Amino acid sequence: MCGVSACLIFLILLAFSSMACGRCVHRSKAGYFSSLSALSVGTCGYGSMTWGLSGGYVAAASSALLRGGVACGACFQVRCRNTRMCRGGGVKVILMDLNESNDTGLVLSRPAFVAMARHTADGELLKLGTVDVEYKRIPCEHTKNLSIKVEEKSQRPNLLAIKFLYQGGQTDIVAVDVAQAGSSDWRFMNRVYGPVWSTSRAPPGPLQLRMVVTGGYGGKWVYAQSEALPVDWRTGSVYDLGVQITDIARGVAAKDCK
Ligand SMILES: *[C@@H]1O[C@H](CO)[C@@H](O)[C@H](O)[C@H]1NC(C)=O
Ligand SMILES: *[C@@H]1O[C@H](CO)[C@@H](O)[C@H](O)[C@H]1NC(C)=O
Ligand SMILES: *[C@@H]1O[C@H](CO)[C@@H](O)[C@H](O)[C@H]1NC(C)=O
Repeated sequence: MCGVSACLIFLILLAFSSMACGRCVHRSKAGYFSSLSALSVGTCGYGSMTWGLSGGYVAAASSALLRGGVACGACFQVRCRNTRMCRGGGVKVILMDLNESNDTGLVLSRPAFVAMARHTADGELLKLGTVDVEYKRIPCEHTKNLSIKVEEKSQRPNLLAIKFLYQGGQTDIVAVDVAQAGSSDWRFMNRVYGPVWSTSRAPPGPLQLRMVVTGGYGGKWVYAQSEALPVDWRTGSVYDLGVQITDIARGVAAKDCK
């Protein structure tokens, strides 16, 4: 019926579609971290790129929200529920880290936290430290194409570890395959954590890549431009995949929101 990898992907899709809850509004408390350095070794592994990725509007989330790292890089709109102190529109943040606290579901960067406030109330909000919020996942909009950074532990030709950057839309990447450009001998990569995928069986370059993305509507293949990585790909370099993901999650019935 279907090849091993196709069946595997089908099972993965089933598992994810039951969890997808793209448009649900959730409630929790949110705090903020006062120092930027707290994030520089963030769980998602964006390191020093963290601040450039989102203009500093980032957040750390509980493991339930971060979903084992699958939601690293996902975008959320967060609105503080205190109408006296806060603006209605809230802020848009990107998930970059894990913060397992029993008191807060989200911990925002200080700039993002302050941006929730009406401008006369920012000091008051900071003083409060923790506020009730509503949040929902929204599509990410990046000015750059979906890109990959070749991780330092990679070693040409076979050991390849990549980190996805600037993932747009409201989707999860749930499978990644690599092949030599022009070949149909695709080899799957394993998720290391969050946006990082690796294989010790990469063919010699130049390389092409394809990803399965899901957003609660099943899934689809997204193909990077034909030569995603050149023959002499380098660790530490960032490569533009020449595509962007713009899909949004299928509507979810309110009864399925947890
Ligand atoms: C979680 O965030 C709080 C701020 O609300 C901070 O004090 C704490 O150190 C963070 N925990 C981790 C593990 O980063
Ligand atoms: C969070 O709650 C759990 C269960 O109630 C408890 O076991 C754990 O120690 C708490 N963690 C913190 C950091 O308070
Ligand atoms: C994204 O990729 C397309 C196709 O390769 C290219 O034309 C476009 O310039 C890229 N966009 C950005 C913002 O780099």
